[in-house]
Amino acid sequence: MSMELHETARALVAEGRGILAADESDGTIKKRFDSIGIESTEESRRAYRDMLFTTPGVEEYISGVILFDETIRQRADDGTPFPDLLASRGVIPGIKVDKGAKPLAHAEGETVTEGLDGLRARLGEYRGLGARFAKWRAVYTISDTHPSDYSIWTNAHALARYAALCQEAGLVPIVEPEVLQDGTHTIERSLFVTSRVLAAVYTELFDQRVDVEGTLLKPNMVLSGYEAADRAGTDEVAERTLHCFYKHVPAVVPGIVFLSGGQSDEDATANLNAMNSTGPHPWELSFSYGRALQAPALRAWGGKPENVEAGQRAFYHRAKMNGAARTGTYAPEMERETTMV
Ligand code: 13P
Repeated sequence: MSMELHETARALVAEGRGILAADESDGTIKKRFDSIGIESTEESRRAYRDMLFTTPGVEEYISGVILFDETIRQRADDGTPFPDLLASRGVIPGIKVDKGAKPLAHAEGETVTEGLDGLRARLGEYRGLGARFAKWRAVYTISDTHPSDYSIWTNAHALARYAALCQEAGLVPIVEPEVLQDGTHTIERSLFVTSRVLAAVYTELFDQRVDVEGTLLKPNMVLSGYEAADRAGTDEVAERTLHCFYKHVPAVVPGIVFLSGGQSDEDATANLNAMNSTGPHPWELSFSYGRALQAPALRAWGGKPENVEAGQRAFYHRAKMNGAARTGTYAPEMERETTMV
């Protein structure tokens, strides 16, 4: 079992490839669809995911896809269940298993991620449906007083309980502690908070006997707050982010797969590229982007069947740009290449 977990984790961070996070919950996908003026229905959500997953050639750059509970049970236009379609193209199916961040008692403005009750049974079912890895997201906000130690340790404990259950079920856990980068904080404050969060997460993972060689970390990059007056540029972001991980992430962890967290598509690509251009590093540095892989594809598709190819071209292009960032060979000029699907 542990060999299989190690192999799956390594396959998810294979050279030049990364993960598509397409696990938006019903509320989140509705927000995305609202932005292009289309209604979120079971069929429109299925058609959108079908467009993404059937993009010709995208498996060159995409190693795995994180699905939502509804999606893992849906089928492509030709009737093939989505997990089977992905697996037939060499793309590993994954599943979001947390039930969202809920208010943390006695901690005004902070959350704890729920979903542990009944998780062992759900993981068994998801593995039967074809999932080989899972995701659980903890969320922290930065202010002068937040996050509290209480929220840091409560979320770390839940992440480790989830990770241990995943490994027992034969699924690679993606451990996602997301420090939101909204606000006016400095990059130093982001570094401090992200460091404290990671220290707690790895303490709990070890205490709960998780084999970290069969896990992936999905963190935020260390950024100045999006509303900060003087924001750090790409080189400083790469340097501070790497500094943070060198101090806190064990070298046997096979990969760090970043979330995009509201950065522009091109910033998310450029920052990843900058980190890889100073490699090699102990772990693979890759992506598990949601918005930064999907935003242009969503706009180009616009919910219209006649735009499926345009949507796929946009998705293929972003996947290719991030594939280049995996090896530090991305350059902004490549954004202007027209990509044929
Ligand atoms: P973003 O890349 O849009 O932040 O989404 C990644 C994700 O899966 C958040 O849980």
